[in-house]
Amino acid sequence: MASGEDGGSESSVYSTNSSGLIENKHLTPEDYRQALYDSQKKHQYKYVKTIHCPLVFKVCKKKKYYAIKVRNMTYGYFGQPLYTASIHKMLFVLGEASKEFFVKYVEDWISKDRKWHFCVMENIEDGYTALDYVKDKFNCAGMSLSPRQYIDVFVIFHHMCTAVAFMHNFNVAHKDIKLENVLMKKDMSMIKLCDFEYSAFCRNGELYIESQGSPLYGSPEMFLNAKAPHTKFTCDIWALGVCLCVLLVQKMPFGSQKFEEGTYEFLNTIKDDVMSGNNKCILHISNQHIRSLLKKMLNLDWRNRCTINDVLNDKWVVYMKNLCLNQYS
Ligand SMILES: Nc1ncnc2c1ncn2[C@@H]1O[C@H](COP(=O)(O)OP(=O)(O)O)[C@@H](O)[C@H]1O
Ligand SMILES: [Mg+2]
Repeated sequence: MASGEDGGSESSVYSTNSSGLIENKHLTPEDYRQALYDSQKKHQYKYVKTIHCPLVFKVCKKKKYYAIKVRNMTYGYFGQPLYTASIHKMLFVLGEASKEFFVKYVEDWISKDRKWHFCVMENIEDGYTALDYVKDKFNCAGMSLSPRQYIDVFVIFHHMCTAVAFMHNFNVAHKDIKLENVLMKKDMSMIKLCDFEYSAFCRNGELYIESQGSPLYGSPEMFLNAKAPHTKFTCDIWALGVCLCVLLVQKMPFGSQKFEEGTYEFLNTIKDDVMSGNNKCILHISNQHIRSLLKKMLNLDWRNRCTINDVLNDKWVVYMKNLCLNQYS
């Protein structure tokens, strides 16, 4: 059974930003609100509240609530929101099973002036994420998990892995796996992956050279950037390993909170920890089976890192899955 770090009184888990900030530098939250307002006449989604400033809103149409993600197309890569929406749509229509694991896509369009992209989705609990769950339920780092919490942690992790397996089987890498991109109902009756901003098609074994996503969940090959070609799938496995650490220990395994996010020092501390495998959580995880799974997922060499199918067939994962099935059947 896992336990948290001794003596910590505050939660050490904190959120990371990915896509939104790039746009923010040039635009204000009012610009996003105005864009939504301007689209209202034609598309009739009325603003209810801001879920995630500046770009995700709760909206209402014909007495039904939805979430809408508003992306500016002026800055950065013009086609990105369209590509993102097409991957989201594709994942959602691929089969019944996918509906359980991915946020439901409703529709998307581009504004008349072609400056804004809107993607309407089902609204899951006004934006409650797996990170919120960790903060709510395990209020401080250092807490031992109860058997019930331990099972909840597994259920979230297993849902994430199943969603990622679904994507990988269709040759799509998510590339921004983190707890903030997992939406869930507070009673655990729904757990779904969202945010396909960095997702990309890639054939198995295809090499790529780029560094994207959230640094705290970034794999060694992402930090090495152009120096290390690697398959796109391997960064998802690393990020899932980081998520498992956070779920179990309520602490980010790599990097430090001391530095401001986005600064040179912040990135360097994470990089140092990642490259040297200095995992701040592993010592607090006493279960040998989980430790051996994490070792496979957080292998510094992407060539030797396990695949998502290895994770789903791992001894601990299979054991926990059977345990959960027996509990709920
Ligand atoms: N379909 C949705 N329903 C409810 N909340 C959502 C939905 N999609 C996103 N959110 C909320 O908005 C946040 C940011 O959305 P996300 O798509 O991850 O944007 P970003 O690209 O800025 O990370 C999520 O962490 C979640 O809290
Ligand atoms: Mg996100």
